[in-house]
Amino acid sequence: MLISYSIQPFIFIFSLFLFYNLTLCSENEEPFLYKRSPDYLINNHYFEIPPAKDSFSLNEVQVINYPDDYTLKQLHLLSRHGSRYPNLDQITHFDKIDKAFANVSVAKEWPKNPFPTEKQNHLTTRGKLESYYNGLQCRKRYEKFWKNVEYDADVVKFQTGDSFWVSQSAMAFTEGLLDGTGPVGACKNEPAYIWSLPAKQDTILTIYLACKRWNMTVSNNFTYFTEQTYSYGNETLAPLAEKLTKKYDINPPLDPLLIPYMYYYCDFWVGVFKRSDTWCELLSDDELILARYPWNMKNYFVYSYGHPFNELMGCAYITQFVNSVENYLSGNSRMIADLKYTQGFPMSLILTTLGVYKNKYPITANLTLEQMKSLKYIETKVLHWTSTIYFEIYTSPGRDALLRLVVDYEPYIIPGCDGEYCKWTKFKNIFGDKINCDFEKMCAYP
Ligand SMILES: *[C@@H]1O[C@H](CO)[C@@H](O)[C@H](O)[C@H]1NC(C)=O
Ligand SMILES: *[C@@H]1O[C@H](CO)[C@@H](O)[C@H](O)[C@H]1NC(C)=O
Ligand SMILES: *[C@@H]1O[C@H](CO)[C@@H](O)[C@H](O)[C@H]1NC(C)=O
Ligand SMILES: *[C@@H]1O[C@H](CO)[C@@H](O)[C@H](O)[C@H]1NC(C)=O
Ligand SMILES: *[C@@H]1O[C@H](CO)[C@@H](O)[C@H](O)[C@H]1NC(C)=O
Repeated sequence: MLISYSIQPFIFIFSLFLFYNLTLCSENEEPFLYKRSPDYLINNHYFEIPPAKDSFSLNEVQVINYPDDYTLKQLHLLSRHGSRYPNLDQITHFDKIDKAFANVSVAKEWPKNPFPTEKQNHLTTRGKLESYYNGLQCRKRYEKFWKNVEYDADVVKFQTGDSFWVSQSAMAFTEGLLDGTGPVGACKNEPAYIWSLPAKQDTILTIYLACKRWNMTVSNNFTYFTEQTYSYGNETLAPLAEKLTKKYDINPPLDPLLIPYMYYYCDFWVGVFKRSDTWCELLSDDELILARYPWNMKNYFVYSYGHPFNELMGCAYITQFVNSVENYLSGNSRMIADLKYTQGFPMSLILTTLGVYKNKYPITANLTLEQMKSLKYIETKVLHWTSTIYFEIYTSPGRDALLRLVVDYEPYIIPGCDGEYCKWTKFKNIFGDKINCDFEKMCAYP
């Protein structure tokens, strides 16, 4: 009893102290700098960098299951290249950010732009490994399918879009898939044939370069979503710029249009150097999402449902896909796998043409932060680096073949199909008008 009496005042004082501290550091008080680990940012999908647990795991890869009376006969893959260095537009904006912060005390000691222009678009070490693991995961996931396949260029086709970082990713993928199955070198490599078309003729893997109408009416059409861009700039980026200007004493005031590139600056510091200090520290979790959002809007308008023409852009892919399945099913082709590497834009256009990859809301300037957070079909969550779109073709004697679409290992239901497994004849009916499209005519301009 005596003891408890004597400690009571102490407890009282202690709790006063605790209360005082809590109010000092209440939620309204923002930290001056945001300290988070690179893995925290990657694992929460702030960037296009896939989390290591998805990219580099083999033990957790599930071997696929499918109905007993069907057999997986053909596999078509569209995959995005691995993590890369920033592109030229990003690098030049990083220089502008350096300049805007040259006299800002918090950033004074930070290293200047570490991304030389000659490194633009180069795969990072992580990017090469992601693609290699993508091949290993493919072999593991489709274990039964690959079991007795001997590599032959007519049976297993590899194709790449015409750019070095895509081609290198395709190469790394073949090494993963065929690891230890060939006759070459200490690692028993199998030299594979990877074919490609010049970019302007490739109506599938670089569709956006092959279609002049799209270039002029969608990509270079600065009128049709400027209203959205201006609105977001004025309503969201400008107040955020003002806030950062005050907080970090930036003079002259920060240009709101640099904020989306500050997001990228953070992204590439994490992706290339695994560092989340410097630029990442200036933006909170929510602010990173706000700073990223102009890119989500751009992708929506230029490469997805934001423009109706994009719903046709994947038609050359669908046409060649249907033809190669038909050729196989009718016994006119030996090809069992068609494995293609490309960029994010064509993948977005093709999923848009298929009618999937559609969010609950159009990605317009007026979404609330909560709505932005709820968007699933954005590049950081779905079409991230080394993401995969598999089309699986199943057969069963005397029955219609089945198609299953699997994006990042998650089955997607194609609108109009009855479920995960879509009857092949049904699929062809749904896309009847997009099969054998006249791409040249469709893309002529004016
Ligand atoms: C930063 O300070 C230097 C030296 O005072 C000055 O020459 C330069 O113009 C300033 N830069 C900016 C962006 O304010
Ligand atoms: C697309 O537009 C850009 C910019 O105006 C131009 O440089 C390029 O040549 C165009 N490409 C095609 C295929 O028309
Ligand atoms: C730009 O897009 C708008 C809306 O889709 C369209 O009405 C307009 O004709 C387009 N401009 C050009 C030059 O194609
Ligand atoms: C704000 O809107 C005006 C047009 O109304 C536009 O010129 C300006 O660039 C917008 N500001 C931002 C930061 O987007
Ligand atoms: C947001 O903007 C779009 C396009 O301008 C409009 O169709 C939609 O109704 C707006 N939504 C809300 C909640 O204001």
